[in-house]
Amino acid sequence: MNSITLNNKTDIPILGLGTWRLSGDETINVVKKALKIGYNHIDTAEMYGNEKEIGDAIKDADRAKLFLTSKVWYDNLHYQDVISACKESLKKLGTNYLDLYLIHWPNPSIDMKETFQALKELYSEGTVKAVGVSNFTIKNLKLALDVCQSISLPITVNQVEFHPFLYQESLLNFCRKNNVFLTAYRPIAKGLVNDNLIIRQIAQKYQKSPAQITLRWLTQLDIITIPKASSEEHLTENINIFDFELEKSDMEKMKKVNQNNRMVYKEIANFDD
Ligand SMILES: NC(=O)c1ccc[n+]([C@@H]2O[C@H](COP(=O)([O-])OP(=O)(O)OC[C@H]3O[C@@H](n4cnc5c(N)ncnc54)[C@H](OP(=O)(O)O)[C@@H]3O)[C@@H](O)[C@H]2O)c1
Repeated sequence: MNSITLNNKTDIPILGLGTWRLSGDETINVVKKALKIGYNHIDTAEMYGNEKEIGDAIKDADRAKLFLTSKVWYDNLHYQDVISACKESLKKLGTNYLDLYLIHWPNPSIDMKETFQALKELYSEGTVKAVGVSNFTIKNLKLALDVCQSISLPITVNQVEFHPFLYQESLLNFCRKNNVFLTAYRPIAKGLVNDNLIIRQIAQKYQKSPAQITLRWLTQLDIITIPKASSEEHLTENINIFDFELEKSDMEKMKKVNQNNRMVYKEIANFDD
């Protein structure tokens, strides 16, 4: 799997498995299937309620070859709550470290300094190998970068909704300028990319599916991506994107698909950038 080196020198596989809405035995089956197919990066969160099942699915895998991301929920951002939430995630996942730990959503009623100080402690002791944020706007990210600079804690990624229908160019550029990698969630817009005429035309040209074109486009932009899939067919399709390259003109065409269509409910963050 191709990987990206984050600003703290941690390597992250550029494509991972999203697991939101997987639960119970299905989680175990899907994650086991994904590992067999070649996935080595799994994205979860305390909020998904499936860390225990992911732990079951990975228990026989070589931990050193796996990249595990989890996230602390937005009402657990006080210092002690972050520490406890992380320990709970580790216990459920059956591991003693996370490769990446994210603030799932910003919470304006809790001082970011407190949250990042807890993350710094987890980072310094090696319990989390990298720290990042999720659903942070430019405004939130600026604040976070200021706080983290003052305590020497690198923010490695910002995981946000990003797909052809929501091409967040200014946020992407801001992240790049500040050496923060963007992770695209909802990367194939829940399969809706398959219905788009422009993406379908590009897909025909390369003899690939629209989902593959979309994931390839994201990775060629150096965007980490975490499509969720449960069927073997989708899991296999989504990982088979490294044997071709989109031409520059097609990369540009993909940008034009944008509709500023935000799909994931935005009750928590203030999208005012
Ligand atoms: N940080 C956050 O706040 C946040 C928010 C949302 C999501 N996420 C993360 O991002 C991951 C991905 O986002 P998502 O699950 O919302 O959306 P997504 O990955 O864009 O879409 C998943 C859906 O697309 C289908 N699918 C997968 N591969 C396909 C293919 N090749 N062709 C057609 N359909 C395909 C899946 O069906 P099957 O399951 O039937 O295969 C599933 O219904 C999540 O699972 C989660 O880990 C994070």
